Amino acid sequence: MLNNGGVFVGLLVLLLPVFFPNLFSPLGHASPSIFSEWNTPKPRHLPLLKGALQHKTKYGQRSDLWSPLASQGYKPCFDSPTTHVLPEKSEGYIQVFLDGGLNQQRMGICDAVAVAKILNATLVIPHLEVNPVWKDSSSFSEIFDVDHFIDVLKDEISIVKELPKEYSWSSREYYATAIRATRIKTAPVHASANWYLENVIPVLQSYGIAAIAPFSHRLAFEEVSRDIQRLRCKVNFQALTFVPHIKSLGDALVSRLRYPSEKYLRERTSENERQGDGKFVVLHLRFDKDMAAHSACDFGGGKAEKLALAKYRQVLWQGRVLNSQFTDEELRNQGRCPLTPEEIGLLLTALGFDNSTRLYLASHKVYGGEARISTLRKLFPFMEDKKSLASAEERAKIDGKASLLAALDYYVSMKSDIFISASPGNMHNALVGHRTYENLKTIKPSMTLLGQLFLNKSMGWSEFQQAVQEGHRNRQGQIRLRKKKQSIYTYPAPDCMCQA
Ligand SMILES: *[C@@H]1O[C@H](CO)[C@@H](O)[C@H](O)[C@H]1NC(C)=O
Ligand SMILES: *[C@@H]1O[C@H](CO)[C@@H](O)[C@H](O)[C@H]1NC(C)=O
Ligand SMILES: *[C@@H]1O[C@H](CO)[C@@H](O)[C@H](O)[C@H]1NC(C)=O
Repeated sequence: MLNNGGVFVGLLVLLLPVFFPNLFSPLGHASPSIFSEWNTPKPRHLPLLKGALQHKTKYGQRSDLWSPLASQGYKPCFDSPTTHVLPEKSEGYIQVFLDGGLNQQRMGICDAVAVAKILNATLVIPHLEVNPVWKDSSSFSEIFDVDHFIDVLKDEISIVKELPKEYSWSSREYYATAIRATRIKTAPVHASANWYLENVIPVLQSYGIAAIAPFSHRLAFEEVSRDIQRLRCKVNFQALTFVPHIKSLGDALVSRLRYPSEKYLRERTSENERQGDGKFVVLHLRFDKDMAAHSACDFGGGKAEKLALAKYRQVLWQGRVLNSQFTDEELRNQGRCPLTPEEIGLLLTALGFDNSTRLYLASHKVYGGEARISTLRKLFPFMEDKKSLASAEERAKIDGKASLLAALDYYVSMKSDIFISASPGNMHNALVGHRTYENLKTIKPSMTLLGQLFLNKSMGWSEFQQAVQEGHRNRQGQIRLRKKKQSIYTYPAPDCMCQA
């Protein structure tokens, strides 16, 4: 999917109005009513599915698949301590208000640290906006370990949890109710360091504080000094860790995936530990209604589903969905259709995963629900998620909180032997980048190849499997150096990673 960057950038731009409405706009976003939609979606690739169900993986192939990535000659850069200098005096306070979901906010946090450093300012712990789609009001310190964050960065930048009393007027409410001189609202997308020096320093000098909002994607990846790039890397890969209760629940899930027989046993003896060689794969699957509708592809739910998705498109995007000009076949040929759970199951089987594979589903909601997931479950009966692995009691602190649920999935994904994301977007990018940084195996499906293979109804299982394997040989986590304009958070080499 990465060679389709353009397509997905386009898609995300189009999704923007839905996911990221203007900052401070009233929240009660009118969401389209729930339509009663389908006839139960049926498998669409029956001959392939038959082949996949009968498929047996050869032993050698299996160990290949699960073996960790060999070293690729890059490792995280280490800075000499002399590059860490706290400014002698702070120029003032920087506040940011971050919208989007957890992973977009994560990048905003990294950029906020960088901007505060560029300005020699003191950063106030970023305020996370409530997203109208996900509706989670968790604060920074309810998601991230705030003391760790401040501590890791303490030699480079001053960070405060709250503004001192004399500035307490500078609140979200203050900016929501009128135009204020201390609010910077014109930062262009991918603004340069100079832009901040020219436009924010004067505000800091006059008022001692500047609130920058909107702030998502507001710092360029080009022409930023090496030290600032390194600082962004340090924030993303070292300073941002989750709160202890997310980590401990995540560790419990990981251990239940690795040692399934002890699913609900907390204690593990070292004996078991030595015996257990359990491995698991995380599948990040985002096949929700927005995505399905936006793609304008046909997903096999029949006329009812087609109509429902078309109507949803109309309500949400008022005809601004370019894809709807193309036929399903054209879209598939270009790799522009999200993979269905069934198609992902076929992909995984063709890659060599068999029905003993422990699969963790990192996912929010699947359009079509269990009816759609059941085909994938047929191929991978040991499929788990945070609901199946943790008791309601254990989930009490996070249930219903989208950001915390996403944080848990992120944590488990980072611990997996193999991560595979079948959905473009911020979570995909964040994890691809973070796993590259730690040289962990990450399979990136080739959407174009798969779209074309799934169109060919005369293809047999073994031809399909061969084509899939060939097409994914170089998509398992091989380092790709960042190209101009690409994000250092998705492609951390060479800005965050140095030659070993
Ligand atoms: C920030 O501080 C450093 C070192 O104290 C100084 O060289 C630099 O000019 C300052 N930059 C700004 C924007 O004040
Ligand atoms: C896995 O597939 C094999 C056939 O390849 C079958 O015999 C076995 O029962 C399956 N196991 C599970 C748990 O479904
Ligand atoms: C479909 O797959 C078959 C078998 O691999 C192949 O011979 C045929 O050329 C393919 N058709 C198209 C349109 O690609």
